[in-house]
Amino acid sequence: MQVETDSKNTAPAADVKGSTQAVSALTATHIVRAIGVRKTFRMGDEEVHALKGVDFKVNRGEYIALMGPSGSGKSTLFNMIGGLDKPNAGRVFIDEVDIAALNTFELAWLRCHKIGYVFQTFNLIPVATALDNVMLPMLFADVPQAEAQDKAVELLKKVGLGERVFHKPVQMSGGQQQRVAVARALANDPAIVLADEPTGNLDSVTGRQIIELLREINQTDGVTVISATHDYKMLSVSDRIAWLTDGVIERFASRDELDIKEGRTDAK
Ligand SMILES: Nc1ncnc2c1ncn2[C@@H]1O[C@H](COP(=O)(O)OP(=O)(O)OP(=O)(O)O)[C@@H](O)[C@H]1O
Ligand SMILES: [Mg+2]
Repeated sequence: MQVETDSKNTAPAADVKGSTQAVSALTATHIVRAIGVRKTFRMGDEEVHALKGVDFKVNRGEYIALMGPSGSGKSTLFNMIGGLDKPNAGRVFIDEVDIAALNTFELAWLRCHKIGYVFQTFNLIPVATALDNVMLPMLFADVPQAEAQDKAVELLKKVGLGERVFHKPVQMSGGQQQRVAVARALANDPAIVLADEPTGNLDSVTGRQIIELLREINQTDGVTVISATHDYKMLSVSDRIAWLTDGVIERFASRDELDIKEGRTDAK
């Protein structure tokens, strides 16, 4: 059955009750829908068309890798989905909420509660301990201090850092810092973890551990993971891969369609 409501985000006529239910069920499975997203940056007189009309839907609970060469628009799309930047055209729905319709407060709420962010450079607060870094999003969300502390300890244990709660970022390895960032991303029980090149600053073995940690969180907690990456190791755990080239999603591939080997992949 082909049902298209995405471009309008309007419910179909009430007299087709069966279809309405089918549409609700369909759209409810999409935790992210980006429709016709365009982003152009102006650099003086020059225009850079970073996204040229991207349609991107992510199923709830999916682990999806966004692959593409440098400059193809992965981080730009990541920023649109994460509500960190706004498209020039097109719409982005997070859990069926059109993020363009949100005011500043609502957008901040959505970013704080629905999405956890993981970045290539970890982006931890250098003077704060692992515990304080993980507590911070909870304090922004008005979680009481004691509760935030208990949960931060629990999350740090979950990512294998139960012995490092009072360490500051400079006292930890890159892999450990990224684990803190993953724990911080989970602080407010997000529906989505957005990871932009999470293994980009890590060696191969440590990178694999982070990829597997994200997969474990995806499978045990049902958190949707969307990761922009160059790392072919990511493909072996992804449910689906979106290939982005020059601001356009060229194709999607499911894991079954790929013959994945460490370090390389060939579409069948
Ligand atoms: N703030 C900005 N101002 C101007 N141009 C930008 C800006 N951000 C991105 N671009 C341009 O948009 C295009 C897409 O950039 P983007 O960072 O999304 O690529 P990417 O796929 O994430 O690359 P990488 O793999 O190197 O991280 C590039 O041509 C880039 O130069
Ligand atoms: Mg990037």
